[in-house]
Amino acid sequence: MAALPSKISKVTTHVLQEMKLKGEKIAMLTAYDYSSAKILDSANIDAVLVGDSASNVMAGHRTTIPITLNEMIYHGASVVRAVHRALVIVDMPFGTYQGNSKEALSSAIRIMKETGADAVKLEGGKEVIESVDRILSAGIPVMGHLGLTPQSIHKFGTYVVRATKPDEAERLLEDAKLLEKAGCFSIVLEKIPATLAATVTQSVKIPIIGIGAGNGVDGQVLVLHDMLGITQEFSPRFLRRYHNLYEEIHGAIGAYITDVKSQDFPNEREQY
Ligand code: KIV
Repeated sequence: MAALPSKISKVTTHVLQEMKLKGEKIAMLTAYDYSSAKILDSANIDAVLVGDSASNVMAGHRTTIPITLNEMIYHGASVVRAVHRALVIVDMPFGTYQGNSKEALSSAIRIMKETGADAVKLEGGKEVIESVDRILSAGIPVMGHLGLTPQSIHKFGTYVVRATKPDEAERLLEDAKLLEKAGCFSIVLEKIPATLAATVTQSVKIPIIGIGAGNGVDGQVLVLHDMLGITQEFSPRFLRRYHNLYEEIHGAIGAYITDVKSQDFPNEREQY
């Protein structure tokens, strides 16, 4: 299998499609600010998701529901200023696309104009298809999101694994095909059985990115702060922690406090 050159100058939705065809896995992570996005891009990440998980990670809300369009635009624009190579996708926040496709289009247009992102992502299948159609009609690339859809937390009441029953699994597969038919360039599948995710991946031609959806998909996404071990309270089975930054940052801050109190900092070389 021939890998795509890492020297590719800009990842587009077409590059992701090509990666699926070639069997090269897609690596996506979230970012919400300029400095982290710069590190992700220089490490050659394929796609950066400005997720509405910013509501939890950045703002400390319990759900993704409170984050506003203006706040997502602020995060999106900060990330876009840092990223030159990766595809940047901005989440449409709760209440900006459900139930009113005209409002959905104007929200998506604001995101594209005011952030400079490459695409938007929204949650849901059949129930949001009119919004998806209208956004796509303006030439804005759309990524779908099925399975555990955190913006619907109050409908489901829990964050448990979704689509474990045959009727729900069937509906999810139909929704994936519907999103593909509408013209979405990719779909995120969150927290569903690995076998179902693999079936969806084989049933559609567009790339499927999983989070808690096993290894039979076309790529993976994680929340940056979770995989770096900055957040501590969230530890689902699917989360692999690549670092314990919480401990490292905590240690560094402790050392700084000690140095300030003992007047070890600043020393002679650190002053004018
Ligand atoms: O908001 C987010 O971070 C997401 C990912 C979990 C896929 O939607």
